[in-house]
Amino acid sequence: MEFQVLAADDWKLLRDVRLQALKDSPGAYISSYETEASWTEASWRRSFADALWVVLRNGRRIIGLARSLRVEGRPPDERHLEAVWVEPRHRRTGVMRALLLYLTELEPDVHNWLLWVLDHNAEALEAYERLGFQPTGERQQLTDSSGRTEVRFRRSAVSIP
Ligand SMILES: CC(C)(COP(=O)(O)OP(=O)(O)OC[C@H]1O[C@@H](n2cnc3c(N)ncnc32)[C@H](O)[C@@H]1OP(=O)(O)O)[C@@H](O)C(=O)NCCC(=O)NCCS
Repeated sequence: MEFQVLAADDWKLLRDVRLQALKDSPGAYISSYETEASWTEASWRRSFADALWVVLRNGRRIIGLARSLRVEGRPPDERHLEAVWVEPRHRRTGVMRALLLYLTELEPDVHNWLLWVLDHNAEALEAYERLGFQPTGERQQLTDSSGRTEVRFRRSAVSIP
């Protein structure tokens, strides 16, 4: 197993794994396979701006993906975790925990990790709570007329349980 921080020149690799995630878990994300399958090279490269894309590889195969995003206007010690995905056969084996620990090591000055989860995504809600994230109490309806709602979680950068 090997961690890797992707560079913008790895955009094709990112596209492949992200499209795999969107196809595998369409209910987990706001975006869709159809939307991102139509993205240009420039769009994929833009997704690296102010962000770290990290993967966990098992040989050539990518088994975990996550994006850590610095949001303009937010405190510098805060990051938003996005696009988390673990290949189904490797779920519940600690891949997401390992990705989070890796990000924590990469960005030691980050003290607050924030993320939004769709409120029907029971497995992600459970997993994040197991990893020490707590609801902030914020809840918002998506603006895409789907009627879906997402809830926000936060974890300080103290050790992951
Ligand atoms: C949610 C997801 C990322 C979890 O990844 P994972 O690698 O299986 O998680 P881990 O193995 O690191 O587990 C971390 C903790 O969560 C728990 N957990 C993981 N999946 C769980 C589930 N489905 N139900 C209950 N607990 C779960 C684990 O037991 C572990 O806690 P423990 O060590 O105290 O037992 C993975 O299920 C996934 O990719 N789902 C589809 C995409 C998705 O929903 N992404 C999140 C978008 S916000």
